[in-house]
Amino acid sequence: MTETQTQTLRADAPGIATAARLLHEGRLVAFPTETVYGLGADARNASAVASVYAAKGRPSFNPLIVHVADKDAARSFVEWNETADLLATHFWAGPLTLVLPLRADHGLATLVTAGLPTVAIRVPAHPAARALLHAFDGPVAAPSANPSGRISPTRAAHVLSGLEGRIAAVLDDGPCSVGLESTIIAPAPEPTLLRAGGLALGDIEKVLGTRPVPPQTDDIQSPGQLLSHYAPGASVRLKATDAKPGEVLLGFGPVSCDLNLSAGGDLHEAAANLFDHLHRLDQTGKPIAVAPVPEKGLGVAINDRLRRAAAPR
Ligand code: TXA
Ligand code: MG
Repeated sequence: MTETQTQTLRADAPGIATAARLLHEGRLVAFPTETVYGLGADARNASAVASVYAAKGRPSFNPLIVHVADKDAARSFVEWNETADLLATHFWAGPLTLVLPLRADHGLATLVTAGLPTVAIRVPAHPAARALLHAFDGPVAAPSANPSGRISPTRAAHVLSGLEGRIAAVLDDGPCSVGLESTIIAPAPEPTLLRAGGLALGDIEKVLGTRPVPPQTDDIQSPGQLLSHYAPGASVRLKATDAKPGEVLLGFGPVSCDLNLSAGGDLHEAAANLFDHLHRLDQTGKPIAVAPVPEKGLGVAINDRLRRAAAPR
């Protein structure tokens, strides 16, 4: 949904209730966390998540962090393990994000994880974020609430200066106390530091008894390496006008094909369908031909992903 006016909501009971209702409607609400302001969307709603990328003007689909109210909520989405439990017990709620394998029944939009089999999940400590997560009663996908390439926002005014008119609301509860994004750890197979952030490594080391290792350069979990993270098993051929014998065709617009990103040529709908459709066509085991997608708006990120899928490997 394209917004024209951005409401500023106070972090009182009516403001929180309005923010939760907007999220349920699939609209975007920026909210404070102790690290930075996040740009929140219902993580189960692919169209809402597509709106996050559109509002930020992101040229690629980086996976997003899913925010939940508590450890039990986190466990309903991911395969839990002992190290995760130790870290969560010590540092949640707080500026720590854990990257863990998705459960089969996770129910999250595939656009949240950009098709990865893992998800980044965290329990923020900020009272307004907690109140919102309780009122919403579901998972909230949220990158930092700034346009792509700009500095992360630590005040509602920063959010408005970048995203005013592009999101439904910002929940204003003053400046963020940490001011640095969360530290990201993958607990298994061995504790790995994916991003340094608001929780000091030394504190994590004390709890684990070992220092988290830096990501392996070929580790698909490393944010820097996410470029090559999802490639279908079969070959991918771009800008195809029709399927050659043996191929399946991923369409866009009014074409006859096996699956269509958006028959109506809607880039937002196409973004929401992208990873599901790629996974489904990949399961046929046949090479995938992809119809041309216009290089504008969300089409830039869609084409970025398709080019990576088609790159020689
Ligand atoms: O403090 C924070 O973490 C803030 C607040 C709003 O919670 N959020 C934030 O989100 O910094 P974002 O989207 O700006 O950064 C998310 C980071 C990216 O570096 C992304 O690559 C990484 O998390 N990430 C997300 N899912 C991942 C996954 N499955 N595996 C590896 N890295 C992942
Ligand atoms: Mg960011």
